[in-house]
Amino acid sequence: MKNILITGGAGFIGSHLVRHMVNKYPSYNIINLDALTYAGNLSNLRDIENNPNYRFVKADICDYEKILDIFRTFNIQGVIHLAAESHVDRSIKDPFAFAMTNVMGTLSMLEAARTHWNAKGGMEGKMFYHVSTDEVYGSLEFDDSLFTESSNYDPHSPYSASKASSDHFVRAYFHTYGMPVKLSNCSNNYGSYQFPEKLIPLFINNIRNNRPLPVYGNGENVRDWLYVEDHAAAIDLIFHRGKAGDTYNIGGFNEWKNIDLIKLLIKVTDKALGRPEGTSLSLINYVTDRAGHDLRYAIDAAKLSKELGWKPSLQFEEGIEKTVKWYLENGEWLDNVTSGDYQKYYEEMYLKR
Ligand code: NAD
Ligand code: DAU
Repeated sequence: MKNILITGGAGFIGSHLVRHMVNKYPSYNIINLDALTYAGNLSNLRDIENNPNYRFVKADICDYEKILDIFRTFNIQGVIHLAAESHVDRSIKDPFAFAMTNVMGTLSMLEAARTHWNAKGGMEGKMFYHVSTDEVYGSLEFDDSLFTESSNYDPHSPYSASKASSDHFVRAYFHTYGMPVKLSNCSNNYGSYQFPEKLIPLFINNIRNNRPLPVYGNGENVRDWLYVEDHAAAIDLIFHRGKAGDTYNIGGFNEWKNIDLIKLLIKVTDKALGRPEGTSLSLINYVTDRAGHDLRYAIDAAKLSKELGWKPSLQFEEGIEKTVKWYLENGEWLDNVTSGDYQKYYEEMYLKR
């Protein structure tokens, strides 16, 4: 496979994956397909946008005809599908958008792949890799249980319900049409270029601006955090060496109660800003809980490590220090994203060419 279509490549994880693939595989043609919703920011890819093995195409995954045309134009042989609506709070306010993009958009990607690959002689040598989330498994109690690849699906939010549905469609294409597919379900990612609506970048930005830190409920909910570049490396490994038809859980064995993570963020950010330790603790503001807030997520990534030898590269404290440093050194990126100026980048850099 040489012509690889990555969807959602202007988003948080997608931009890290595109950079990783473009730099690591100069002989591949990496086509980044993204609709540039509020979450898509092409300036995330400034450093590789002129590489000869990189192309950007603006398209909506729900637009089947356009997607099929892109498959034909670039003779796509492999897909890594990340494009999605990804924020749980937004899914509670607007579930339709999540069903549309995550379910119908994934279906349109699968159908375009099936049509194009059948016209090119079949599924041999093709791959459709679907990037999903641990949230499809629902919520764990405060015990030592972990989500494995055989955990039951039990999604609780419109976001996780839409991702669960998309996972089922991908598996249906494997069983019904013999399409070679792979799936991975990953835990919470953190790192640079994450839209500041998600916990970590939102709180770093608020500490930086002395704004309140809205902690949902009692702050006792647990998440399992993974550095985004480790997720990108895992996707690369699974795409190349994982077994067709299989699912791999990805996670860092790194569980944190929200309130403990928030205190760590305050400590690291205050220190980096030269403020006395504990200054920003007064910004903590307990607010009404998220509706249906899942208690605990925790991934068992043993299959990935045993079968493919993957392990996370960074200790969490080190990753958080790197991440805080990045957001503080890239205050302009944060300001552009929060003001909306980032959306002009596509017009300025691409449409004028
Ligand atoms: P993100 O919201 O940062 O980026 C999503 C990208 O998809 C954006 O660039 C956006 O413009 C694009 N997009 C949205 N709708 C589109 C459409 N209709 N057509 C084409 N492009 C569209 O998301 P993220 O956090 O980078 O997540 C990427 C994927 O990884 C998602 O599928 C998500 O479910 C999954 N995931 C995320 C995490 C996490 O912690 N962020 C963890 C596990 C899995
Ligand atoms: O587990 C993987 C999932 O992780 C991904 O599939 C999702 O795309 C991604 O958004 C993330 O979902 P979460 O809901 O866990 O992430 P979020 O950053 O929104 O919230 C993390 C935790 O922090 C969660 O328990 C809710 C809490 N929180 C969040 C925000 C934004 C707060 O207490 N206050 C906040 O303002």
